[in-house]
Amino acid sequence: MSKTLEWGHRYVAVAPAHFRVDYQINPFMDLAVQPDRALALAQWRRMVDAIETAGGTVEVIDQRSDAPDMVYAMNLGLGVEVPTTTGGLRHHVVLSHMRYPQRRMETPTTRAWFAGHGSTTSYVGRDGVGAFFEAGDAFAFGGDLVVGYGPRTDELGLKHLATDLGVRVRGLRITHPGMYHLDLAFCPLDETRALVCPEAFDEDSRAAVLALVPDPIVLTEEEALSTFAANSVVVGRTVIMPACPDRVRARLEESGFAVVLVDVREFHKGGGSIRCLTNAVDLRIGRDLLPVSGGEVVLP
Ligand code: ARG
Repeated sequence: MSKTLEWGHRYVAVAPAHFRVDYQINPFMDLAVQPDRALALAQWRRMVDAIETAGGTVEVIDQRSDAPDMVYAMNLGLGVEVPTTTGGLRHHVVLSHMRYPQRRMETPTTRAWFAGHGSTTSYVGRDGVGAFFEAGDAFAFGGDLVVGYGPRTDELGLKHLATDLGVRVRGLRITHPGMYHLDLAFCPLDETRALVCPEAFDEDSRAAVLALVPDPIVLTEEEALSTFAANSVVVGRTVIMPACPDRVRARLEESGFAVVLVDVREFHKGGGSIRCLTNAVDLRIGRDLLPVSGGEVVLP
């Protein structure tokens, strides 16, 4: 059996005190379909419970009242643990530079929160200037940082990430408007496995993602879009999912995973599910991301 992921035990999440659909920046959002505040909060609490029961920890960031999408914490930034010369770990966050101005006020708040918790921060672009980067596009897999680009993250941002972190960045070009972040189409499960929806990508990137993952569990376009099945969180051998097609569950169980279902459908109204609502901050350079001097970008 292949090794479980070492990251994915420490999360931040944003308590949904002001979750609304105020604008439309993805195909799921419809101003006429608003979330039920109490139901959303109950679903979010059950999700946090499920993560904690699986052995994860969740730190909570307060939501700004003027930032209805801030609940999708995955997009706040990319948190990494960096080994120090004295044998300790320093925490660092590469802040997102949101494609849409409607979400850009989330960044200074995120920066202040992480700085207040002892993290250093950096950025690839900010305030509408420079490359866009949304952290829902970035995952560690196979020792490299896999980054989706196109709808939200700019291709140019990949170079910044690679140099900033000193890692290899493997770009995948996203072309599907409904899978506008990598986390809607790709979910690392363990050292050799990941959930993958190939339809999210252009032809070369489809081939690249299938070559990258030794043992992919493939989701159909319909499964990824209507159930958000790829937008799941993995804590060791537990996969916390919004829904799981039978075929996928069978594959997961035969690979030693336990599937825990949590209904977060109120949040599907904003275009995100369980992964989007969380942000793993325990990716470690030298363990999950292999150091590459000067950084390197590999495109399909
Ligand atoms: N309404 C949010 C947006 O369009 C949803 C973000 C979903 N998050 C994610 N990590 N895929 O930005």
